[in-house]
Amino acid sequence: MNLKDLELEAIKQIKSVESMHELNEVKALYLGKKSKLQSIMATMKDLSVEEKKDLGVRINEFKTKIEELVAKQRTFLENKEVEDRINKEAIDITLPGKKFSEGNLHPLTLVSQDIEDIFIGMGYKVEEGPEVESDLYNFEMLNLPVGHPAREMQDSFYINPSYLLRTHTSPVQVRTLLKEKGNPVKIICPGKVYRRDDDDATHSHQFMQIEGLVVGENITMSDLKGTLLTISKNLFGEEREIRLRPSFFPFTEPSVEVDVSCFKCGKTGCSLCKQTGWIEILGAGMVHPNVLDMAGYDSKKYTGFAFGMGIERIAMLKYGIDDIRNFYINDTRFLKQF
Ligand code: FA5
Repeated sequence: MNLKDLELEAIKQIKSVESMHELNEVKALYLGKKSKLQSIMATMKDLSVEEKKDLGVRINEFKTKIEELVAKQRTFLENKEVEDRINKEAIDITLPGKKFSEGNLHPLTLVSQDIEDIFIGMGYKVEEGPEVESDLYNFEMLNLPVGHPAREMQDSFYINPSYLLRTHTSPVQVRTLLKEKGNPVKIICPGKVYRRDDDDATHSHQFMQIEGLVVGENITMSDLKGTLLTISKNLFGEEREIRLRPSFFPFTEPSVEVDVSCFKCGKTGCSLCKQTGWIEILGAGMVHPNVLDMAGYDSKKYTGFAFGMGIERIAMLKYGIDDIRNFYINDTRFLKQF
């Protein structure tokens, strides 16, 4: 086969290849060590000097041409591959998108955050305390020594005789007073608490409270009243009424219970408010001198007020929820509404 025919054949083959692998094979076939070109080159030894020179030039031209063609075909194949991939991966922007369902904050979190905002606006600091609490902080240092009958008011889950699941957020009062070592205090503490209460429409064995504690010189009952009034107006608006009833907590003296008018019946009496027209939301009072003394504060110099409110009860009033158990059963039809 002469060089011209070989070139025509090679051009035809190179142009018809469809993959890189094929292209490499065809290149080897025409330019490689065992190529057809080698057999033409082998004829050189029988040629005259002039003919050798002439054939040499033509072989070089052949090689250059084939290499150029191979390079061109390689570029063509590469572009085609990219194009094919783009076509295959093309996104159909007319397809409807996939909807991701977005979660929302739990109503108890929303209400906690609302209440925290009100207090932070009044200059309170937010404190935290552990849910597994010592008997010492949960009861004893709150003026509830072992065997005190008022412990019955908060039936508890004990881990061992010295530790229990806290029954209220009040132990954070003790923790804060011990930490502040005699300095004035103005804090709130939101958190979970636990009691051996039977679950019904307004009671749960696990619920949330927000504790408040203000200690300083000349803090009086009227400061407490003013604060409770401000909170109630902020939380429930002008149409809700509140009432203060004398109460008893071993850690406050005097003590009060704060009720809000029932949102369901508007005070005429219904099953939710147990026919009383009022729903209890808050316990409060002036910090008992014993509590201050036990925490190293001079109760002759310092006075203070404290309160503890149930977040569920407030959330129920705010959103018109008539059963506390809705907060815990994780029914998304309920939770989605907030
Ligand atoms: C206390 O827990 C006191 N530590 C509050 C306190 C703090 C008084 C500081 C004085 C000074 P009481 O047991 O009343 O008090 O509970 C406070 C609030 O928690 C109640 O008003 C009520 O809103 C809520 N609460 C009580 N028990 C339950 C329950 N089982 N389920 C849901 N909420 C409850």
